[in-house]
Amino acid sequence: MDQGPQTPHELRSGVGAPVDAADFPEGKRAYVRAMFSAIARRYDLLNTLLSFGLHKRWKRYAVQLVAPPPGGAALDVCCGTGDLAFLLRRRVGPAGRVVGVDFAEPMVRLARHRAAGRRGLWFVQGDAEALPLPEAAFDVATVGFGIRNVGRVPRALRELWRVLKPGGRLVVLEFSQPRSRLFGALYGLYSHLIPWLGRGLSRHPDAYRYLTTSIRGWPAQEAFSGMLRQAGFSEVRYRNLLFGAVAVHLATKPSLPQEPGQGKANPVPEG
Ligand SMILES: C[S@@+](CC[C@H](N)C(=O)[O-])C[C@H]1O[C@@H](n2cnc3c(N)ncnc32)[C@H](O)[C@@H]1O
Repeated sequence: MDQGPQTPHELRSGVGAPVDAADFPEGKRAYVRAMFSAIARRYDLLNTLLSFGLHKRWKRYAVQLVAPPPGGAALDVCCGTGDLAFLLRRRVGPAGRVVGVDFAEPMVRLARHRAAGRRGLWFVQGDAEALPLPEAAFDVATVGFGIRNVGRVPRALRELWRVLKPGGRLVVLEFSQPRSRLFGALYGLYSHLIPWLGRGLSRHPDAYRYLTTSIRGWPAQEAFSGMLRQAGFSEVRYRNLLFGAVAVHLATKPSLPQEPGQGKANPVPEG
């Protein structure tokens, strides 16, 4: 059962500014699910407008990096309306299988609607912290702009590790820490505009204020790489996109048992 508030409004402190959901892990799950459910219908449009269409390019790159094998099994967690799942489906081909998981029912419904008539592609309502999936079932897994929203990130990473086959690859695409001062300053200014733009476009009181707050509270590239290693992944690497405002992390579930914390985080080589 969910603890804490059921709607974003219930997170308001009653003394002015909305309470920062990211500071309230117990309430975060309920807040995040209610918020994404509320904005689901406008989510894709907003994503494209606010990222200037770049999210599509980043997703294509993430899928290229995780390289699902033709005929293989692929998983997309926090799938939203299914962008990454559709790209994975293209790569595994008609003989492959793709599962998308999201805990917001309206997102799952939209993804299923988009998938109508396509074989080998399923969208399931479920929580990243307790995936309703068997062990060692997937060759690859992706998480696009979702892991930051999960209440207990280490638990979700362990779940991803559990459902991957030994040797299976994980890609996590997430906002991160800009590495250029000039770009960081411009990005900081844009971050101030996002809640305002998002409120107007999504008609949700604070969904896009949550977005900027959660990005600020998210660990930088190396710290998240450490979390991946802690969860048991090896060959942990990352590549910065848009001067590091976004990072794509690649990790592997070792084929042989490995001590947690082994392996180094290296940027993925260019080219
Ligand atoms: C920012 S959207 C990203 C959607 C999609 N991956 C994309 O990149 O377009 C984050 C998604 O994560 C889902 N989500 C957040 N926490 C979750 C959890 N604990 N379990 C499952 N889904 C979750 C939300 O419902 C939302 O659809």
